[in-house]
Amino acid sequence: MDIDEPLLLFRAQFLQCIDHDFIRWPPSVLLQQPDAQSFLSKKLFNVSNPTSHPPASYEARVLKTLIAKIAKSVGSIAANNKALEDLSFRLASLQSMSPREGPITQLDANVTYNCIPQNSRLDTQESWRPLTVVESRSLVAGSKFTGHRTWEGALHLASYLVSKSDLVLGKSILELGAGAGFISIMCAKYLGAARVVATDGDERVVKDMRRNLLLNELETEELISAEQLVWSRDLHDKISDGPGFDIVLGADIIYDKGATEALVDTLSALFDAMPQVSVLLSNAFRFPDVFEVFQTGCARNKLRTRVIDYNMTPPAAQKSLFYTTSMPLQIIEIQQDQLRKKHTAGSTFE
Ligand SMILES: C[S@@+](CC[C@H](N)C(=O)[O-])C[C@H]1O[C@@H](n2cnc3c(N)ncnc32)[C@H](O)[C@@H]1O
Repeated sequence: MDIDEPLLLFRAQFLQCIDHDFIRWPPSVLLQQPDAQSFLSKKLFNVSNPTSHPPASYEARVLKTLIAKIAKSVGSIAANNKALEDLSFRLASLQSMSPREGPITQLDANVTYNCIPQNSRLDTQESWRPLTVVESRSLVAGSKFTGHRTWEGALHLASYLVSKSDLVLGKSILELGAGAGFISIMCAKYLGAARVVATDGDERVVKDMRRNLLLNELETEELISAEQLVWSRDLHDKISDGPGFDIVLGADIIYDKGATEALVDTLSALFDAMPQVSVLLSNAFRFPDVFEVFQTGCARNKLRTRVIDYNMTPPAAQKSLFYTTSMPLQIIEIQQDQLRKKHTAGSTFE
């Protein structure tokens, strides 16, 4: 059965647990069709695949609105509608669950991202590249446990990387401050990276990241591993013995003044050890004063920043990897300046 694009768009938003108020719902003319209702009932609102299913409380809220929209679209022929009955039954069973009995609680949500370019057609075989990570959705920016969810900076960087399909292909990747591991998992699972080392300073975050690797059936350590790496200038033992990296990635990791100085030290040490390495960071301009600290630190270490020409896709045009654009997001390449450069590596990104 061919599935209409608005239904696939709805599925992607639902599985990514997009805020109910920002969902782009399928139009009424589509919702009144039995095939569309059957797709929603059988493929979205059942628990046949609990590892990629959103939390019960979220599902119930979305389902309640959806049922109201379907009922409105079919009007008087709503009676004896099997799909609508099934959906209503599902809603009733979700509502009767206490939050703890639900498939997953709000603090421990399975969030599934569709790793395709923003402008892809949704109705092709290649248009469904799911990646599920367990996240704590209630976290706010600047909180102590920022690593337990995927942030807008990661989604912006992911959008860029999937749009440049050969950037990561065959490359060896080091990710700093990887959090839930979304970017690293995507590089290993869908973008053909030869090797990925996803790192974070927080050992609980690294533990959860390992769980996310398994959730995505990434069990081969040669391909991807999650390791603890606290930013510092002294990375010698961590990187000098290994085969090195082609690309260093980081998303939403410039947000704390003290940590930012350590981050610059880390980048400086990475360039010392691997002069040819390419560094790409995605930054959310939440804290301009912290970004200033970053730039000053870079200048002191003879590193310069270059903004990549890649704009945020407006939410109304996003078809995958949904994120809010209310805060400016930029992808920044860090390069050694001429004085520091030992070899001419050239720019990989454009
Ligand atoms: C805002 S989160 C971003 C997570 C992920 N990159 C994303 O965008 O979804 C920042 C991450 O940086 C890590 N981090 C903060 N300070 C660090 C440090 N000094 N060394 C290593 N990791 C650090 C945190 O543990 C957290 O996982």
